[in-house]
Amino acid sequence: MEHRILGRTAREVSVVGLGTWQLGGDWGDVDEVAALDVLDAAAEAGVTFFDTADVYGDGRSEQRIAAWRRANPGWQGTVATKMIRRAPAPSLRYASYDAFRDWVDRSRRNLGVDTLDLVQLHCPTDDVFASDSVFDDLDTLVDEGAIAAYGVSVETCTQALSAIARPHVASVQIILNAFRQKPLDRVLPAAEAAGVGVIARVPLASGLLSGRYTADTTFAADDHRSFNRDGSAFDVGETFAGVDFATGVDAAAEFSALARDIDIEPAAAALAWVIQQPGVTTVIPGARNEAQARGNAAAADVTALPESFVSDVRALYDEKIRPQVHDRW
Ligand SMILES: NC(=O)c1ccc[n+]([C@@H]2O[C@H](COP(=O)([O-])OP(=O)(O)OC[C@H]3O[C@@H](n4cnc5c(N)ncnc54)[C@H](OP(=O)(O)O)[C@@H]3O)[C@@H](O)[C@H]2O)c1
Repeated sequence: MEHRILGRTAREVSVVGLGTWQLGGDWGDVDEVAALDVLDAAAEAGVTFFDTADVYGDGRSEQRIAAWRRANPGWQGTVATKMIRRAPAPSLRYASYDAFRDWVDRSRRNLGVDTLDLVQLHCPTDDVFASDSVFDDLDTLVDEGAIAAYGVSVETCTQALSAIARPHVASVQIILNAFRQKPLDRVLPAAEAAGVGVIARVPLASGLLSGRYTADTTFAADDHRSFNRDGSAFDVGETFAGVDFATGVDAAAEFSALARDIDIEPAAAALAWVIQQPGVTTVIPGARNEAQARGNAAAADVTALPESFVSDVRALYDEKIRPQVHDRW
């Protein structure tokens, strides 16, 4: 598995990481055994980067990672968590040093570590990005040894550029996939120039890019792909990357045909497309079972995608997806 330096953390992480939102909640049922199997499969395949958050299952994802690490003390990986969404709103109103310290200490307990490898502000509002005191407080947490580094998980390209301009932001996490191509324009070049790591999330557009869903596919009631289709629970861009389901299924069928034309499974082609964008450090697909985790890690082995595939995917985006998403995030 190829490793890359994660921006200003100076840590090496696998190009395919693992998103662990599924191990906490909001994706229907993923029980304890399945969660540990996913972590096992990813680690066995060479994954050394797990992304979690304090709110995934209200700490369950962090606790499951801690349990897995206790059973696998030899794993020398990096665990990135997130904070701020335990507040009533992820805004400056709730972003004080004391709140940060409480959330960080809770994650340290959940993850069973003295120092968190990387803490990301979890999609805060614009006022947080503009606040010097927020970043001073994060610097203090680094100085105190509670966190080794911090980054920001963002919704928009504008927010990503604000975060990259902060001198001690180690990494930016952003939605990037064949159906969310705007970060290619300015965010990836800016991050690369500044030495900020890029963690690419929702790389399969919540599973759409695997090509497995049809217009008739349904999801469990406690899966955000049922309850957040309209953005009523959180930013609608987090569900199917903000593409409406009918458009997404139709475009995913075309994407799958393009991938199969070059003899690559659609999910692997979708992940390779992300990995091969200059400026990307790691891609963090979520997985609900070990087969998905193993398949996703194998995308690191896909050789350079043909230029014709890349331009066909761009044309598909421009025609079917861009009108819905490009100006929104
Ligand atoms: N605000 C934030 O900071 C934020 C927001 C969203 C996500 N994230 C992070 O990013 C990670 C990844 O994003 P995501 O999980 O939302 O979306 P994703 O990775 O685009 O999609 C995950 C879904 O894709 C399907 N899938 C995964 N591997 C597959 C494979 N090999 N073959 C076929 N289907 C496959 C599964 O769908 P089924 O369940 O249908 O099997 C899985 O639940 C999260 O786990 C989380 O760590 C962060």
